[in-house]
Amino acid sequence: MIGVFDSGFGGLTIFREFLKTLPQYDYIYLGDNARAPYGNRSHEAVKRFTEQGVNYLFDKGCKLVIIACNTASSNVLRELQEEYLRNPAPEIAAKMKGRKILGVIRPMVEEVARIAENSGNLTPGVDGKTPGVKRPAGKNLRVGVVGTRGTINSKSYETELRKLNPDLKIYGQACPLLVPLIEEDWADKPETRMILKKYLRYLMSCNVGTLILGCTHYPFLYKEFCRVMGRNVVIPHPGEVVAASLKDYLSRHPEIDSRLAKKGTRHYLTTDIADRFREIGGRFLGQKLDKVEKVDIAK
Ligand code: DGL
Repeated sequence: MIGVFDSGFGGLTIFREFLKTLPQYDYIYLGDNARAPYGNRSHEAVKRFTEQGVNYLFDKGCKLVIIACNTASSNVLRELQEEYLRNPAPEIAAKMKGRKILGVIRPMVEEVARIAENSGNLTPGVDGKTPGVKRPAGKNLRVGVVGTRGTINSKSYETELRKLNPDLKIYGQACPLLVPLIEEDWADKPETRMILKKYLRYLMSCNVGTLILGCTHYPFLYKEFCRVMGRNVVIPHPGEVVAASLKDYLSRHPEIDSRLAKKGTRHYLTTDIADRFREIGGRFLGQKLDKVEKVDIAK
């Protein structure tokens, strides 16, 4: 099975694209709703929670776990990957044999570096597909990132983008009020638009050419982000980018792909109230969630 881990509901915006692009696989989605949001939490807390979530999914038989949460991917993915790889304990080595953990930062960074290099002074349009408009020289090298405090403070996007293109200039803006507003189904309210506009003021003054939506919840405000930033700012869709990258990864790693079941099953697990997950999760996934199970992952 493929495991998808998130702090709560948000990862379902990534997962829904997996279901569109790679429907044939068996999946378990685990949301740690009891301890969400992760966005304002300490590095130590996010690490402990994420480790527990990933271990739970491995124990359930997942061969591949994708950390869909930006805050968790930003803060602990690298550390977890290294710890598992370097850990000399035989039980860890046995557990990790043929298993992998992936996150959401690297796919986005690769896409944005590609846009910066290829688009020159002509944007491919806000969603990367529609016809673009001319933009001033150098704009394509300026990248904005929005996310939770944890993601922005970690500078993960900045570090990874610079590895691919040291000429890029990266500007971050934490938007901590957006996650609770979106979970309350307030994405369309004028108050939310006003707050978003305020958050984006700094990035607009930096004249960024590309904007990374570095939080699982922000696709709910996609149109509003595009409207505020204007036509000559490219905003890739995180779910589409991560799903395309996963498809590519599986085609390049037949040794992992061949060990993944392809019966099209889905299991939804939450660490908090199952009924609430079914209700709000259904909105995030864009389809009804039939069976949701409450689990305890804190050991
Ligand atoms: N999933 C988180 C992220 O993408 C947002 C919600 C939270 O703070 O837990 O950063």
